[in-house]
Amino acid sequence: MQDKPYKTVLIVGCGYIGRRVAALLQAAACRVTGCVRSEASRVVLEGAGIHARLLDLDQPDIEGDGVSGYDAVLYCAPPQPEGDRDLRMQAFLRLLDTQAPPRRMVYISTSAVYGDCQGAWITEAQAVNPATARGRRRLDAEQQLSSWCGTHGVHWMLLRVPGIYGPGKLPLARLRKGTPVLAEADSPYTNRIHADDLAAICVAALFSPHANEIYNVSDGHPSNMTDYFFRVADAAGLPRPPAIDRAEAGRVLTQGMLSFLNDSRRMRNDKLLNELDVSLDYPDLDTGLKSCFRD
Ligand SMILES: NC(=O)c1ccc[n+]([C@@H]2O[C@H](COP(=O)([O-])OP(=O)(O)OC[C@H]3O[C@@H](n4cnc5c(N)ncnc54)[C@H](OP(=O)(O)O)[C@@H]3O)[C@@H](O)[C@H]2O)c1
Repeated sequence: MQDKPYKTVLIVGCGYIGRRVAALLQAAACRVTGCVRSEASRVVLEGAGIHARLLDLDQPDIEGDGVSGYDAVLYCAPPQPEGDRDLRMQAFLRLLDTQAPPRRMVYISTSAVYGDCQGAWITEAQAVNPATARGRRRLDAEQQLSSWCGTHGVHWMLLRVPGIYGPGKLPLARLRKGTPVLAEADSPYTNRIHADDLAAICVAALFSPHANEIYNVSDGHPSNMTDYFFRVADAAGLPRPPAIDRAEAGRVLTQGMLSFLNDSRRMRNDKLLNELDVSLDYPDLDTGLKSCFRD
């Protein structure tokens, strides 16, 4: 990989995706600091050769932990589980040194900001209309980050990410339990991205000549959610889960699972591919699943 214009990058919420991004950046001679909340995750980061910093954005007393000296920030931490606002994003923005801000911030948001689109193909021009508190918190985070960047002359990028899958990130526990899925006729469209492709997209967004843009991140091959579970089961050699109708799903699935069944949309990825100039290693689920079961 070529040398990059930003030399110091802070990854806030340096977990499954952040660690992959850190490895790509370090290969491009960037100095990376990964922020995590727990000591256990700090040990994992250091073990992977990534400089780690403990930062718990839920703690009220973090005001002293100022953030300065980074050329760019990739923000991957999820919002707290309740409410309509992202209080972690709010806490993080307050920590930034406004006299010496980063030059660019990239945020991993989610496609939940669009709400239900009744299965339609959508681009970034689709109006946001989150139907869940989960989606509203993400939209709030997007707005907080882009507004802060606007005020302080910082470039921003928003990545609207759907279901992430990859090695170690497949619903195998759920499949082993035999948790039912919706019958295919009732099942919403879902979109996906392989973790390695998402990491490469984060790097592309950090170093793109474009700025202040929103990208739908998807492999461009949506399918219904039940098809996803069936194909993962087949690839893993597990039995396909039983299919049930919506009425029964309302009785046996958790509220959290049900909330994912009400949004249906198919995301176009033309802007991502053309403007960020990325080529996907895993442009469809079959290719991506092979990577998850390699020795
Ligand atoms: N799973 C999906 O399909 C999906 C889809 C779209 C978007 N996303 C989002 O994409 C982002 C990256 O995903 P991922 O798989 O890399 O997530 P992940 O592995 O769960 O990593 C999340 C990171 O955020 C940190 N974090 C959590 N609470 C924090 C707090 N209060 N203060 C500071 N840091 C905190 C965690 O630290 P600790 O490990 O120390 O707790 C961890 O480093 C997340 O925001 C995720 O919600 C996920």
